[in-house]
Amino acid sequence: MTKFYLTTAIDYVNGAPHIGHAYEKIQADVLVRHFRQRRDDVYFLTGTDEHGIKIQKTAASRGITPKELCDENAQKFKEAWAGLDISYDKLIRTTDKDHEAIVQKIFQKLKDNGDIYKHSYTGLYCSGCESFLNPRDLTEDGLCPDHLKKPEEVKEENYFFKLSKYKDRIIEHIKNNPEFIQPEFRANEVLNQLEHIEDISVSRSKESVNWGVPVADDDSQIIYVWIDALSNYITALGYDTENPSEMFKRYWPADVQVIGKDIMKFHAIYWPAFLMALDLPLPKTILAHGWITIDQTKMSKSLGNVIAPKDVMETFNLSQPDAFRYFMMVTAPSGKDGNYSDLDFKERVNADLANNIGNLLNRTLNMQVKYFDGEIKPEFITSSDNEIAKAAMQTVTLVKERFDKYEVAEAAQEIVNFSNIVNKYVNDTAPWGLAKEGKMQECANVLYNVLESMRFIAAMLAPYTPNISQDIYEQLNRTEKAVDVKLDNLKWGEIPAGKITEKEKIKPVFLRLDSEIAGAAKKA
Ligand code: MSP
Repeated sequence: MTKFYLTTAIDYVNGAPHIGHAYEKIQADVLVRHFRQRRDDVYFLTGTDEHGIKIQKTAASRGITPKELCDENAQKFKEAWAGLDISYDKLIRTTDKDHEAIVQKIFQKLKDNGDIYKHSYTGLYCSGCESFLNPRDLTEDGLCPDHLKKPEEVKEENYFFKLSKYKDRIIEHIKNNPEFIQPEFRANEVLNQLEHIEDISVSRSKESVNWGVPVADDDSQIIYVWIDALSNYITALGYDTENPSEMFKRYWPADVQVIGKDIMKFHAIYWPAFLMALDLPLPKTILAHGWITIDQTKMSKSLGNVIAPKDVMETFNLSQPDAFRYFMMVTAPSGKDGNYSDLDFKERVNADLANNIGNLLNRTLNMQVKYFDGEIKPEFITSSDNEIAKAAMQTVTLVKERFDKYEVAEAAQEIVNFSNIVNKYVNDTAPWGLAKEGKMQECANVLYNVLESMRFIAAMLAPYTPNISQDIYEQLNRTEKAVDVKLDNLKWGEIPAGKITEKEKIKPVFLRLDSEIAGAAKKA
């Protein structure tokens, strides 16, 4: 079995995390948790991006030091990820001393190799992007198209990176490796941007930006925040220009780097060029997700519509994050924009998690108790040669195929499709009717099929809903953890003969939001 190394974008800490940041980290976490169910050696890196003019300015406006601002907000990101059960292996901060030291060495190596040179320059800098903009890309009013702010005119002597030298190799790489940019439709945008690519400024004078990593042999210059930021993906593994660590050799190149569509240029053009200049292999896939809006409107401080993950948790009095994780993953097709609204959230999780999946388990376990005293006799166990078993096995294949293409929303839909099949099966076979007619063997076989299906569903859904899946596993009297199930080993007929449950142990795995019970819990 092979390794799997996944990274996320590292978040600017000039504010607190919102559900757009959360969307990305949840997507990354779902991918990682799925691949942990299929591979032996998985490593998950996330982090915070703590340098640059934006952070310097925010700190100044609050009358605190940049480091104080970073510490305060990095803590909020950590807490938010803990609340969402983000199972990262490492959270890097670009203010970590070992990271800063390696960034200096990387810059030095590029400089020593002749990829970086000094040049006087006048340009337009957008602090929102932390990037110089090409006048061609501005709006008619001369604003940054992403941040709708007027970029600042900057005239200084900076270090420049010979991006143009790598242009042809990058174009060739994108064309020869269709899996490099995912979803594939984004590749054209990148190829268009590459048409106009020029060398880029990779440092700022200390007078204009002082919060950052200084160039080692010229501390009048501060290293460009994107060299600093992008390097995190290798410094976190202990990359060193002289002596790459064991971790680096084991995990690099990354299998997938999850980012938002707005930072595609940095990851699909600048990053490959830096790696080529360092003579390092490129990541296998850059996976760009879409943008999350609130009630169809872009989230922004000025509109006052920024929602934090904990706002959702508090509004619905959720004790664990599964419903939110699940909703975020299904609200948009892979790579496309998605929307959050309280109403959509409530309706979707009630439909899928409470009605479709939760009720199915609940009804079936209750029937098992009512008709068979919670007992599964050896003759109740069905063979894998029945339609439901086949659909279950087929769903595992489909889910794996979706994940191989990093299609997280579509994979969830495959699981829901299967639970629809099982719900229909229960309604069609009506085990309560079979019991009434005294057809106990048939009734028992139907219930067994449903319980086995629930075991499959819980295992496949565990990356999205680790807590609910675990609850399902416990109610199915399983001793293994749902998140640890190896999907390749999922076999039909493994619920053994014996007592599976008793009345007192059966409880809903997910309460309908705003149901009376949830409402009561809220009041309590
Ligand atoms: N610091 C840079 C990334 C450096 S990576 C070496 C940055 N930070 S950010 O805080 O602005 O964004 C972090 C991630 O969150 C990005 O991938 C970005 O696309 C994502 N999102 C920020 N707002 C978002 C939404 N509203 N919706 C979905 N993702 C969004 O860019």
